[in-house]
Amino acid sequence: MSDSPLPLDAAEETRARIDTTKPHSARFWNYFVGGKDNYEVDREIGDHIKEIFPGLVDVALTSRQFLGRAVAYLAGEQGIRQFLDVGTGLPTADNTHEVAQRVAPDARIVYVDNDPIVLAHANALLTSTPEGRTAYLDADLYDPEAVLRAASGTLDFSEPIALMILNTLGHVADHDQARDLVGRLVAGLPSGSHLVISDSTATSEGMIAASEAYNASGAVPYYVRSIGEIAGFFDGLDLVDPGVVQVTEWRPDDADGPGAAEVAVDAYCGVGRKA
Ligand SMILES: C[S@@+](CC[C@H](N)C(=O)[O-])C[C@H]1O[C@@H](n2cnc3c(N)ncnc32)[C@H](O)[C@@H]1O
Repeated sequence: MSDSPLPLDAAEETRARIDTTKPHSARFWNYFVGGKDNYEVDREIGDHIKEIFPGLVDVALTSRQFLGRAVAYLAGEQGIRQFLDVGTGLPTADNTHEVAQRVAPDARIVYVDNDPIVLAHANALLTSTPEGRTAYLDADLYDPEAVLRAASGTLDFSEPIALMILNTLGHVADHDQARDLVGRLVAGLPSGSHLVISDSTATSEGMIAASEAYNASGAVPYYVRSIGEIAGFFDGLDLVDPGVVQVTEWRPDDADGPGAAEVAVDAYCGVGRKA
């Protein structure tokens, strides 16, 4: 079962909200993972950044591979049946519900994003199995309680939920505020829930230069954090092995291709369990 995001007459209004004069992170990221749902303005800054820091392509691709491994681990080894994916991005290959429902067809997934272009493409995220369910919320990370309230229309908050916030927290410039938002989301989840985070890190001059170039482009800025700051999001949770590591090092899988685990990237991740 799936929940339609938009009455048809609202689709046009949503498209009118899409700003094609400035780069947008969902479209920029879509360009980096090889998608087609981006505009000239996104490709221009994307190409510039590929020139100054080609490593961002690896960050984007390996972060999506991490998503796949983390969701398969949670659904397969931890028996998680519910996922709340905040900062979903544009649909691509192996979205959260596709990975989860391959392992557990009855899995329920709620996607959350505040970009109108993601809303406009959300039908591709709603291709649920008959036993499971997917929903899309046009909602804002800055209002965690509203996100949780709306998600409770699809998810059962008496059962564990995996909260996924991948490559999105950099939009929250102030680290204390980012921690507060994550903490408020986690506070609303039951025991046995998990927090999954990945993000770009200020671990090379190239990544810092890429971040500066992106932020100078007129896009909503994206700040890259230290490894310690990424680890801090998991305070109070039990970190799943191997802890906070580069995205390629988290439970690597041969399915990602030979040598995938050895690729060095400026992106770190972790999975933590709420006791
Ligand atoms: C770089 S993309 C990451 C997409 C996906 N999670 C991934 O890892 O491939 C960041 C996403 O966060 C969304 N986003 C940014 N600020 C947000 C906010 N305040 N509330 C909800 N989503 C937000 C953007 O629209 C974009 O789709």
